[in-house]
Amino acid sequence: MSTDSISTWHPVAASAELRPGANIVAGFAEGQELALWRSASGAAQAWENRCPHRSVRFTLGLVVQDRLACAYHGWQYDAGSGQCASIPAHPGMPAPRNVCAKLFHAAEAAGMLWVSLAAAAPPSPPPGNAVPAGWSFCRILCVRAGAARVRDALTARGFRAEAPLALCGALGEVDAAALVLDAQPRLAFIHLWTPAAPGSDAMKKLHVAARALRGEIEEQQQPEA
Ligand code: FES
Repeated sequence: MSTDSISTWHPVAASAELRPGANIVAGFAEGQELALWRSASGAAQAWENRCPHRSVRFTLGLVVQDRLACAYHGWQYDAGSGQCASIPAHPGMPAPRNVCAKLFHAAEAAGMLWVSLAAAAPPSPPPGNAVPAGWSFCRILCVRAGAARVRDALTARGFRAEAPLALCGALGEVDAAALVLDAQPRLAFIHLWTPAAPGSDAMKKLHVAARALRGEIEEQQQPEA
């Protein structure tokens, strides 16, 4: 798989964060604000975080089976299409067919939810080997710096592109793979994976080292042009 064919996929959340028919997770990719959720039937969704009725954030709403319900007037939208399906205040009125939430391409691979903002579906799915098989999700690190600066900092610490889209190396002498998300111009997220067992001393060490890394990057942050 070429880098070009997968470069439009953004790692926006760990798959386990999205519970079927339950929670809504706020996400970002290249400045686009997202509402991430999973229908009761299990399909992961990545929607523009804006209700098409009066622009209230979907992340304030709730999941109702296979629909997302807006917090303001309660309009409900179908998973998969974003089509308005119900207006609870007018149960006898057909839902307007021209009201539709904006959806982005979403796919799951390697324990992550990936989103593409492209109009057309990417030619290839996200890579199943984006992180080494058998590794555990450690944490998301939110860093107040651009993604390029974060990648530079990881590279300076010996991280290398040993897996598609992931930088692999060690933090606090614990092996780690970093999926860097370009969230906003000066905000990046690092999704950290590791072979260390959850709850182990090595995992705790990695948490400490990750926080230290964030502190160093933000401390060195210079005004970006
Ligand atoms: S703003 Fe969402 S239903 Fe009215």
